[in-house]
Amino acid sequence: MSRSRIGREFFEDLYARFEDPWQFADSAHEHDKYAHTLAALAALDGKRFERGLEVGCSIGVLTKQLADLCDQLVGIDVSDRALARSRERLRDQPRVSLARMSLPEEMPPGPWDLVVCSEVLYYFDEAAFGLALERLRTALGDGATVLAVHWRPATSTYPRSTPCRRTARLWSAQPTARTCSRRTSC
Ligand SMILES: C[S@@+](CC[C@H](N)C(=O)[O-])C[C@H]1O[C@@H](n2cnc3c(N)ncnc32)[C@H](O)[C@@H]1O
Repeated sequence: MSRSRIGREFFEDLYARFEDPWQFADSAHEHDKYAHTLAALAALDGKRFERGLEVGCSIGVLTKQLADLCDQLVGIDVSDRALARSRERLRDQPRVSLARMSLPEEMPPGPWDLVVCSEVLYYFDEAAFGLALERLRTALGDGATVLAVHWRPATSTYPRSTPCRRTARLWSAQPTARTCSRRTSC
C-alpha cells in the first residue's frame, strides 16, 4: 500500500520541537554520511561546480560543506524554521542563498551543474517523486552531477523505501550522465 507524501506541516512541527531533529551537527552517523557524500564528489577529480542546488537543506550542516565546492549554491527547504537555522549557520557564506520552496511544485531556475538530494526523496509519494525527478532532469546543465543519498532500510513512516533505483534509472537514460551507486553501512 502506498503511503502519503510527507509535507510541510510535518517538518515545521518537527523543527518546532527539536533544534536539530536528526542531530546533523553532532551525530557520528551523520558525520560519516557527510564524509561519504563529500568523498563521492571528490572522486570526480577535484571538480568544482559553478551552480549547485541542494534540495532539503535543513539546518545547513551539509550545505556549509557543499559551499566549499561551489561558486554559487542554492539551498531549498519546505521549512521556515529549518531555514532560519540554516541562515544563522551560513551567515558568513556569501556564495550561498536559501529559499523556502517545496519540490516539485517549486524550484529555482537552472541550469545546475550539481544537484544534491540528501535524505529527502523518500518523503515524496509516487506522483511528486516522478515530477521532482523530471523537473530536476530538465534543469541540469551539460555534464551535470546529481548526487542522491537515501536511508534504505524500511521505516514505518517514509512513503518510499527504494528511491535510489528509480533515481539511478532516470539518470542513466541521460546521454551525458555518469551514474554510480555505493551502498554504505552508515
Ligand atoms: C532528513 S532532512 C535532510 C537534511 C540534509 N539534506 C541532510 O542530509 O543532512 C530532510 C529535509 O528535507 C526537507 N524537505 C522535505 N520535503 C521537501 C520538499 N518537497 N522540498 C524541499 N525540502 C523538503 C525537510 O524540511 C527537511 O529539512
